[in-house]
Amino acid sequence: MPGRIPAKKSKIPPALFNHLHRHVAGAGTTQTIPSMNIGIIGAGHIGSALAVRLTSLGHTVYIANSRGPETLTDVAQKTGATAVMAQEAAQRGTDLLVVTIPLKNIPDLPQDLLAGVPAEVPIIDTSNYYPLLRDGQMPELETGDQTESGWVQQHLGRPVVKVFNNILADHLENNGQPAGTPGRIGLPVASDDAAAKQKVMALVEELGFDAVDGGTMRESWRQQPGGPIYCNDLPADQVKEHLTSLGTERTEAQHAEFLANHAQQEQAMAAQGISLK
Ligand SMILES: NC(=O)c1ccc[n+]([C@@H]2O[C@H](COP(=O)([O-])OP(=O)(O)OC[C@H]3O[C@@H](n4cnc5c(N)ncnc54)[C@H](OP(=O)(O)O)[C@@H]3O)[C@@H](O)[C@H]2O)c1
Repeated sequence: MPGRIPAKKSKIPPALFNHLHRHVAGAGTTQTIPSMNIGIIGAGHIGSALAVRLTSLGHTVYIANSRGPETLTDVAQKTGATAVMAQEAAQRGTDLLVVTIPLKNIPDLPQDLLAGVPAEVPIIDTSNYYPLLRDGQMPELETGDQTESGWVQQHLGRPVVKVFNNILADHLENNGQPAGTPGRIGLPVASDDAAAKQKVMALVEELGFDAVDGGTMRESWRQQPGGPIYCNDLPADQVKEHLTSLGTERTEAQHAEFLANHAQQEQAMAAQGISLK
C-alpha cells in the first residue's frame, strides 16, 4: 500500500525505531505534531491498534486494561507501549487520553479516574453500542434520548471526542495513507469541546486519515452503527455528503432505521459465530 507505515519490528531498539518512523511519517504522510504522552484505557483491538501506530509515530503511550499491567506483557511487547493501571494511564497521558473499552463497562471505571487530569486534556471515546452481542439493552440508547458517546461523557463527567468508532481495528492499524492519496479514508470527529476536537483532528491526519468535522456530541449519532458512514471506509468527500444529507437533528425515523440496520448486522455476526464478549 503506498505510503503505508509498517508496524513496529521488535528487533530494532524502540528509540531508534520511533526515530526512523517519525521521519518516514513526517516525509510521507501528514502534518507532524509534537511528540505526546498518551494514555489508553482498553488494550483490546482498538487500544492495541492505536498503541502500535502512536508509538511508531514517536508518541509515548501508557496502556491499561481491567486486570492490571502484569497481564499486558504481550501487548507492551507488540506495541511499544508501557503497561500501567488505568488511573496511571489517565495521569501519565498528559497530552491525550483514549478510553476504548466496551460501552457496558464504562460505569466500572474508577470513580476518581479523571481526578487531577487537566480539563484541556482531550478524552477520546471510541465506543459503539452492541446490544445483542455484548452490551445488553441500554434504555437511553434504545429511546434515542442520548447518543452513545453522549452517554459515555455523562458517566465520565467530562466532554469526550468521538472518533475511531467507525473503522475496524485492523484498518486503523494498517490502512492509513499519506494526505492527498486518492481514496484516503475519512474519519468523522465529533465533540462539544472545539479545542479538543481540533487537537484530535490533527492526530487523525497524522495517523493517515482525513479528519472530517462530525459536529457536536448531539450530532454524533450520524457516525453510529447502522448508519451509512459506519465502518464503510469512505473517503472524506463522501463522509461529508452523508453528514450533510442526514442533517443534524436525529428524527425518530432515522433512529429507528439505524437501530434496525444495526440489529441486522449483529444478527448476521451472531449467525457467523462472532462473539464480542
Ligand atoms: N474492534 C473494532 O474493530 C472496533 C472498531 C471501532 C470501535 N470499536 C469500539 O471500541 C471499543 C473497544 O473495542 P475493542 O474491540 O477494542 O474491545 P476489546 O477487544 O474487547 O477490548 C476491550 C478492552 O477493554 C478493557 N476493559 C474492559 N473493561 C475495563 C475497565 N473497567 N477498565 C479498564 N479496561 C477495561 C479490556 O481489558 P480486560 O481484558 O482486562 O477486561 C480490554 O483490554 C468498543 O466500544 C467497540 O465497540 C471497536
